[in-house]
Formats: sequence, structure tokens, C-alpha cells
Amino acid sequence: MTRVRKAVFPVAGMGTRFLPATKASPKEMMPVVDKPLIQYAVEEALEAGLTELVFITGRSKRAIEDHFDKAYELEAELLARGKTALLELVKNIVPSHVNCIYIRQMEPLGLGHAVLCAEPVVGQEPFAVLLADDLMDVDKGTPSVTHQMVKVFEHEHASVLAVQEVPREDTKSYGIVSSTPWNNCSERVNAIVEKPDPKDAPTNLAVVGRYVLNSQIFEHIRKTGKGAGGEIQLTDGIASLLKDQPVLAYRFNGTRFDCGSKIGYLKATVELGLKHPEVSAEFSNYLNNRK
Ligand code: UTP
Repeated sequence: MTRVRKAVFPVAGMGTRFLPATKASPKEMMPVVDKPLIQYAVEEALEAGLTELVFITGRSKRAIEDHFDKAYELEAELLARGKTALLELVKNIVPSHVNCIYIRQMEPLGLGHAVLCAEPVVGQEPFAVLLADDLMDVDKGTPSVTHQMVKVFEHEHASVLAVQEVPREDTKSYGIVSSTPWNNCSERVNAIVEKPDPKDAPTNLAVVGRYVLNSQIFEHIRKTGKGAGGEIQLTDGIASLLKDQPVLAYRFNGTRFDCGSKIGYLKATVELGLKHPEVSAEFSNYLNNRK
């Protein structure tokens, strides 16, 4: 049985919903409390046992590569000042047995196109896709959302999409699936459509930023033309894939924060701030007592 080892992080989007913050710096480097969004996604992939991390980057994304690289001057300075706790924080973001691979998407032609850019590295293996602007929080002791999905994939040998119900008026922001029961933890996708108008949406079951995909997805994306918004959509590739093989929808255990939107980002900051050991007590006190 093929194990899932590879994770693809498409980080080449323009982040227009967060301008001007994202004019010169990547949306994925925005911090929630003290870690950038991309680090949460990388930690999730590592927790799932993935060891090959493929970043699909674009213009103004250099900071992401630097973040996962060795920072010689900073490390030497922290060592010289005896700040060992901070040194450990910056040194051990990615363990030494994990490989980070960077591929440039020359033009932001869409998420489907970004995923296709990973093909030379992914080859014929199954792989996870993590969109870092969807921050997935799980309770202590619960496997990460990617970990949960890898387990479903390895059990069912079928591509898995993370789904959650959204308010009907929001269907125009998501890929929307219709599905029928498959087993006790997942459903089989019968149809998927990108960003339908609420009045046309078949359901309110939305795909969010986690996927575990069979490598056949590449040939399906390749034959997919431009879709909604003039972009090459991953959703259209999946719509084509599911005509050939089962694709599963998985209602994950955890909370998703849409950090690509201002309100989702603020909610994540509050919730993760309330959990952070260094600031939770004072932050909670502040929130409870503000007028
Ligand atoms: P979004 O739809 O969130 O687009 O992309 P965006 O450009 O990042 O943000 P807004 O909507 O303009 O504010 C979903 C994911 O796909 C990646 C993005 O980086 C994000 O993780 N993406 C999108 C690419 O890597 N390349 C693309 O061409 C498009």
C-alpha cells in the first residue's frame, strides 16, 4: 500500500482580501499570536508523519523560504546572549529528516495550476494539499486534520476532501459537494461545483483547505480548462477525477478558521490567544473586563 509522504503547500496566491498587508509580504507569513500561518500548516503536516514538503511559491514569497531555512546570524546572536529557549524555537521548526522543496508558480493561474506545478516532485504518489490560510485547530490529543485524512486515505485508497457545512449565502466562496454515505466517517462525492450562487448550490457542504489526493488528479487538472474567475480550478480537476474513481468527503474533527478573511483571522487570533500558555490568563482577563 502506498503511504502518504508528501505535502503540497500552494502559497502563490495574491491575498487580495488582505491588502494592503499582503502587498509586499505573503499572507501565509501573517502571525496568529506568535507563529506565521504557514508554520501552523507545516506543523500539521509533520504531525501527520509527512516528510516531503513542497511549497508552490510566487513573487514576494521569499520570506517563506527564509522562515524554514537556517538563520545563521540570528542563531549565533541568540547563542552568544545565552537565550537558549528562543534559540530552540527558531532552530527546530522543521526536523532534519524532513525535506523542504520550493517550486515557483510563474503566474497565479489558479489553485489547480498551483497543484499541477507540484507534479515533477510528487510523481505517482498520493499527496496532501494544505492551504495555510485555513488554520485547523484541534483539541490537545486529537490527531491533526491532515493526519485524520491520511488515515481515511490509507484505509479507503480514495482521494479525500475536508468538508464542512457553511451558511447557504456563503456557497459562492467555496467548492460545494453533493454526496451519499460511504462509511461511518466519510461520504462519497457525487458532484462538485466551484463557487455556485446560493440559489444554484446543490447543498451547503463546502470543501475547505485540506485534501489528500491520488496522483491521477494531475492528468485531470491538465485536461481542465479555465473555470470560475478565469482560473484553473482544483475543483474542476476533482469533478473530472470523480468520474473515474471514488472521491470522499470527510467531516473533520476540529475547528477551521478562514484566515484569508479579516474576520476569520481575528477569530483565530482570539481563540488561539486564549489557549496560549504565555498570554492566556492576562488576555482572558482583558477580554472579560473590557467595556
Ligand atoms: P485564494 O482563493 O484564497 O486566493 O487561494 P488568494 O489569492 O490566496 O487570496 P484572495 O482571495 O485574493 O484574498 C486559495 C489558495 O490557493 C493558493 C493561495 O495561495 C491559497 O493558499 N493559490 C491560488 C496559488 O498558490 N496559486 C494561485 O494561482 C491561486
